[in-house]
Amino acid sequence: MSGSGKVVCVTGASGYIASWLVKLLLQRGYTVRASVRDLADPKKIEHLRALEGANERLHLFKANLLEEHSFDSVVEGCEGVFHTASPFYHNVTDPQAELIDPAVKGTLNVFSSCVKTPCIKRVVVTSSMAAVAYNGRPRTPDVVVDETWFSSAEFCKQAKMWYVLSKTLAEEAAWKFSKDNSIDMVTINPAMVIGPLLQPTLNTSAAAILNLINGSSTYPNASFGWVNVKDVAKAHILAFEVPSASGRYCLVERVAHYAELVKILHDQYPALKLPEMCADDEPFVPIYQVSKEKTKSLGIDYIPVETSIMETVESLREKGFVSF
Ligand SMILES: NC(=O)c1ccc[n+]([C@@H]2O[C@H](COP(=O)([O-])OP(=O)(O)OC[C@H]3O[C@@H](n4cnc5c(N)ncnc54)[C@H](OP(=O)(O)O)[C@@H]3O)[C@@H](O)[C@H]2O)c1
Repeated sequence: MSGSGKVVCVTGASGYIASWLVKLLLQRGYTVRASVRDLADPKKIEHLRALEGANERLHLFKANLLEEHSFDSVVEGCEGVFHTASPFYHNVTDPQAELIDPAVKGTLNVFSSCVKTPCIKRVVVTSSMAAVAYNGRPRTPDVVVDETWFSSAEFCKQAKMWYVLSKTLAEEAAWKFSKDNSIDMVTINPAMVIGPLLQPTLNTSAAAILNLINGSSTYPNASFGWVNVKDVAKAHILAFEVPSASGRYCLVERVAHYAELVKILHDQYPALKLPEMCADDEPFVPIYQVSKEKTKSLGIDYIPVETSIMETVESLREKGFVSF
């Protein structure tokens, strides 16, 4: 097993993506030092403790992004650090305190712990397509977005896209810190992540699918890239394991409008009541392309979006978020 004898750290381990990352790392033989915010909350840790290999090789720590030095003991003795913790939700009242501070100060706190830990060879940061595609440049079917694109903080502020801004600023801060302190850093930039849930709670991107199958009458007028959570977790591990991995990796299987998702769901579940109308009368927000060249070279062979949608629905059903 490639990770046998190696120790790595995962921040925000109870989250949707991180839980899959911990699972795959344990499967590959790694010893995982994982941080969660609340060690006393069974909903945040029981699914991790139940993973294969967890008894022997999973060590849980309490850490908060907003507390300086919180991650010092978590990264101790690690060769690799996977920084995934960052708030991802949209209904915020104070964007600075709820999203931007934990994303940016949290990233710098994690990096400050890393810089004091010489055994760390590489830090893999879970960034987002949010930090790539939002800069006002037109996105239409003929446009190919790739790793050279950067979102503009000013554009995000004007548009009040606070989560997008938090990821843009966090990635900017991470690149600056890693360059200033000679830390080998790679970012993984997924679009909307779907696929099976390991954790018992509902996360924001899985909720995007739930909202289509829970009886709602309209679908949003929006187009997003979609990618399977297992591919996202695998990409993180490859970004650590492949010595030549560098820079950023956009992770998108396909960009699709919600109308296309509804059509796929209808083909898969013909009896299911699905939204029949778009939420507004405007023209559909166009799709665009995202380059797969770099991630394919890393070794990602994307799970098709149709499979990802079905896996999400089955998982939401199994966990009792929807019944039909
Ligand atoms: N899902 C997507 O579509 C998507 C796409 C691109 C990028 N991402 C990025 O992927 C990462 C994980 O997101 P996710 O989708 O897995 O969401 P998630 O399930 O909500 O996980 C977020 C994690 O961040 C932790 N966190 C939030 N605030 C924290 C704080 N102040 N201190 C310590 N931990 C904190 C959460 O801890 P608690 O469990 O204690 O709340 C949770 O473990 C994030 O960086 C997100 O921006 C997600």
